[in-house]
Amino acid sequence: MPFASLRIKAHKMEAKIKDLNEKLALAYLGGGQERIDKQHQKKKLTARERVLYILDEGSFEEIGALVIHRTTEFGMEEEIIYGDGVVTGYGTINGRLTYIFAQDFTVFGGSLSETHAEKICKIMDLALKVGAPIIGLNDSGGARIQEGVRSLGGYADIFYKNVQSSGIIPQLSAIMGPCAGGAVYSPAMTDFTIMVENSSYMFVTGPNVVKTVTNEEVTSEELGGANTHATKSGVAHITATNDVTCLEDLKKLLSYLPQNNKEIPKHLPYQLQEEVRENLSNIVPGNANKSYDMHAVIAEIIDANSFYEIHKDFAENIIVGFARLGGRSIGIVANQPLILAGVLDVNSSKKAARFVRFCDAFNIPLLVLEDVPGFLPGTDQEWNGIIVNGAKLLYAFSEATVPRVTVITRKAYGGAYDVMNSKHIGADMNFAWPSAEIAVMGAKGAAEIIFKREIKSAENPDEKLKEKENEYAALFANPYSAAQRGFIDEVILPKDTRIKLIKAFSMLENKEVERPNRKHGNIPL
Ligand code: HXC
Repeated sequence: MPFASLRIKAHKMEAKIKDLNEKLALAYLGGGQERIDKQHQKKKLTARERVLYILDEGSFEEIGALVIHRTTEFGMEEEIIYGDGVVTGYGTINGRLTYIFAQDFTVFGGSLSETHAEKICKIMDLALKVGAPIIGLNDSGGARIQEGVRSLGGYADIFYKNVQSSGIIPQLSAIMGPCAGGAVYSPAMTDFTIMVENSSYMFVTGPNVVKTVTNEEVTSEELGGANTHATKSGVAHITATNDVTCLEDLKKLLSYLPQNNKEIPKHLPYQLQEEVRENLSNIVPGNANKSYDMHAVIAEIIDANSFYEIHKDFAENIIVGFARLGGRSIGIVANQPLILAGVLDVNSSKKAARFVRFCDAFNIPLLVLEDVPGFLPGTDQEWNGIIVNGAKLLYAFSEATVPRVTVITRKAYGGAYDVMNSKHIGADMNFAWPSAEIAVMGAKGAAEIIFKREIKSAENPDEKLKEKENEYAALFANPYSAAQRGFIDEVILPKDTRIKLIKAFSMLENKEVERPNRKHGNIPL
């Protein structure tokens, strides 16, 4: 196309985009709950609608709206669409600067061309230079097939920048349509991935290739839908029922995070008030074999309704998520006695380790609530690498320099005691409730091993076992022997937990730790 007519077309297009943005802004912004209700009825929003919905009203500044692809093969020179399938720019979310890109499925299936990638890279560079979060709204058929290796290179440019930005600015991904092939690796390298149920999927190879290679029959939804990744693979940290709840989730998530790794998260104003929480005394059952829901403990300790759970449906034997405590943003890692008695296994170790590392990178203090009977035994666990995966969590806590506080509510057994933010691996304040049992293992198992001969030769072995079990329990099934050695700083009443934690995190606010200079550690990946 001659340059002059291209210029005229571009000017017309610029005016059109401005008009479109204004119309959409009127249609989608303002109106609070009513607007949300309206949106709920719509299944999929367009790329532009998504951007305008998530950003503060009138704050969006588009970058690169006039970019066009450079492909001439396959008749592509006739197919010029301004913006080239991705809306990019910046704006604010709750007044805080945020960079954003949204792939437009209506343009070549949102596929990624060389120029589409350049647009994304441009705002990634800006986000990193300025130090503000970046959000990617993914909805794409993958590499632009007509461009061959140029689009593959574009992906690799994005992957590289994902890694350069990791740990410096928060990177959030929403999957709001297809995300296939190598395209999945950019979201996978960002900090959090949210998937929209029933309208998004992620896989490296789709159902057709799977059928050819392994003869398995599987639908896209089964192979890589939101539910699959939220429960089986852990690729999705959060799922959303539709586009609007997905965008609301992204906003909520950002509210707990700082803009970059040099900031601490925003501390909401808070005045100390009545902080005693009597209900905490009634949650842990007297019988050590009975389970309880650790969510109930979390809810009593934190500021009302402030828990935002991550990976809710994956490895449910451990709970991780953000909350506020006395207005301060914190990360919580908590064993969940309700599922598998709260044991640590391969998936829960990986889940918690990644969360701990995120919090540490972004100056978010860590609270650990501990009730753990140990690591899960069995061939499945050993063969799937419980050693190397359990070590991930041990490593992640050991390297974390943010304020770290632990409360042992009941069991703290074996290696899991060490791993779950013990004093020995650098925790700052360790509390235990009077119901805590800090020992190498449960009293029965311990008695069976160390008094084996005595029990065997006794007149009544069952009675002897019980006697020895009680003896061991009296000595170790409590927090006092750990407290005597200083491994526990204080045995506290459950009802005082909230105030003790508010004070501890406040005391630790200016914590600084110098680490030896090195390129990087070698976390057991
Ligand atoms: C160019 C594409 C495209 C692509 C879709 N389109 N994917 N154009 N490159 N990768 C176009 C279609 O031609 C069509 O154009 C329009 O987008 C909508 O696509 P449909 O197929 O009609 O939509 P739908 O039925 O909803 O199916 C969506 C889809 C399917 C499942 C995503 O389009 C699809 O399978 N696309 C190819 C996916 C793929 O194999 N991508 C490469 C993966 S490998 P018209 O003009 O008809 O509207 C990869 C490598 C990355 O990404 C490696 C990085 C390291």
